[in-house]
Amino acid sequence: MRLFALILGLLFSLGCSNGYKFLMILNSAGRSHFNVGHALAKGLVNSGHEITVVSVFPLKKPLPGYQDVNVPNVIKVMGGDIAALWESNKKLLVKNLIDHYQMGFRITRGLFEDPNFQDFLKSNQSYDAVICETFYNDAQYGLAEHFNAPLIGLSTGGGLTFISDMVGSPAPASFVPHIMLPFNDHMSLYERLLNVAFLAYERLLLDYYYLPGQEQLYKEFLPGNKRCFYEMRRNASLVLINQHVSLSFPRPYSPNMIEVGGMHIDGKLSPLPEKIERFINESEHGAIYFSMGSNLKSKDLPPAKIQEILGAFRGLKQRVLWKFELNDLPNKPENVYISDWFPQTDILAHSKVLAFVTHGGMLSTTESIYHGKPVIGLPIFSDQFFNMAHAEQTGYGIMLDFKSLNSKEFREAIERITSEPSYTKVVQGMSFRYRDQQQTPLEKAIYWVEHVTRHQGAAYLQSAAQRLNWWQYHNVDVLLIIFGVAIFLLVGIPLAIFKLLKKFLSEEKKTQSRKVKRN
Ligand SMILES: *[C@@H]1O[C@H](CO)[C@@H](O)[C@H](O)[C@H]1NC(C)=O
Ligand SMILES: *[C@@H]1O[C@H](CO)[C@@H](O)[C@H](O)[C@H]1NC(C)=O
Ligand SMILES: *[C@@H]1O[C@H](CO)[C@@H](O)[C@H](O)[C@H]1NC(C)=O
Repeated sequence: MRLFALILGLLFSLGCSNGYKFLMILNSAGRSHFNVGHALAKGLVNSGHEITVVSVFPLKKPLPGYQDVNVPNVIKVMGGDIAALWESNKKLLVKNLIDHYQMGFRITRGLFEDPNFQDFLKSNQSYDAVICETFYNDAQYGLAEHFNAPLIGLSTGGGLTFISDMVGSPAPASFVPHIMLPFNDHMSLYERLLNVAFLAYERLLLDYYYLPGQEQLYKEFLPGNKRCFYEMRRNASLVLINQHVSLSFPRPYSPNMIEVGGMHIDGKLSPLPEKIERFINESEHGAIYFSMGSNLKSKDLPPAKIQEILGAFRGLKQRVLWKFELNDLPNKPENVYISDWFPQTDILAHSKVLAFVTHGGMLSTTESIYHGKPVIGLPIFSDQFFNMAHAEQTGYGIMLDFKSLNSKEFREAIERITSEPSYTKVVQGMSFRYRDQQQTPLEKAIYWVEHVTRHQGAAYLQSAAQRLNWWQYHNVDVLLIIFGVAIFLLVGIPLAIFKLLKKFLSEEKKTQSRKVKRN
């Protein structure tokens, strides 16, 4: 048996001889974030590479070539943040941003302080590239230098400023709204004003609060690193971003910022559990799927809100599948099925499922579009507002305000989305466009990871923007010169002419008066 394992191991290592060794850091304790990273990790293993994944979700079934480093300390420090998510839509956006940065400090430190992670750092492994989730953890990008390998960023959400910073992607504020604002790419003057103001506020917070804090963590936990923190974080070889133009809107990116939205959707469907399938099958008028994702637990909702929601479902023609994490839900109507877990993709794929009630997170909206199902969005935090603004703009969804949600309004939205065919028609068109790609998002991601690894970090892709400071980047110096010259020409020259003339005239007067005196 041992010999067999040895031979198998040998064969495996031979088989992997031209594979790379990757390190993947998934620093957040969110299940959905893990799902994105895990899809890429599995894809890389299936392409013949080896990977070590640092996360809070160790594999239940071992996968050859895939090694776990379990870091439970991150759950400990992030638990409170997850429970507080429901409250985040009650707070002002400007406060939410600060909260995100503070959470970032906690989870960045939480990972570095995890005993398993500290042992791992001391283990002197070597890697061909370090793939690091980009989630308020800039200090951790220094792990690339620690392991002497190029840095690859993996954004499980959209392109926040601190992620674009890594590769210098342009994001003109005139048509690229901040992803925490509920705007789309066509902004009114007022919206543009808010966008610019919010971006400026974010920039100030980043430069004077968040980044100095991350720099401290970088120095504390990676004392052997020689590279300057600020240069290091603008030196990524590649950033993979969980977006796609067919899911959002056209915007510019650096050539090493690649859209791979939907990597986690493998297109394979599994049969539904029998009970769930029968419940959907037997619905005369179709079914609605309601889940607020893995982090927002419906059981944590205030009881009054739960009653409003049940009020909307009671007497509805459709059946409802609700991800609700308790066994017992008093007053639950007949047409509602609750469970703490649902096979989301397989449910969305069922032809009798008509719509998805969601928080509007990127993974959920992507899955819904993939399966051509319109959405009703109850955005709570982060990019959910932006995603739902986009859903309303394109016409594949309805956004409701969760704070003021009542059963009448909720009910009307469900009736509208199930009775007006336009929503489904729009989302099926999007699904068709989204699926019409040259490579699957996962294949594209694997190609790019291999490409920059093969080219030792692919420095040739790096934008020169990364070496400019803000006034050079925005040509403030050039504009000053142009304005200076223009002002000189427009004001200085006439002024000089005027002065000369004045002088000339007064001299003339003087000589004339002298002449007069002499006479
Ligand atoms: C790692 O390398 C350092 C110095 O090169 C050495 O002191 C240490 O024992 C090594 N650790 C392991 C686990 O090999
Ligand atoms: C940038 O990354 C490359 C590897 O990808 C490394 O060789 C180089 O030293 C880094 N430069 C800075 C300033 O961090
Ligand atoms: C549900 O309906 C499909 C298609 O009509 C059928 O193949 C399947 O067996 C049904 N499942 C159950 C559990 O009734």
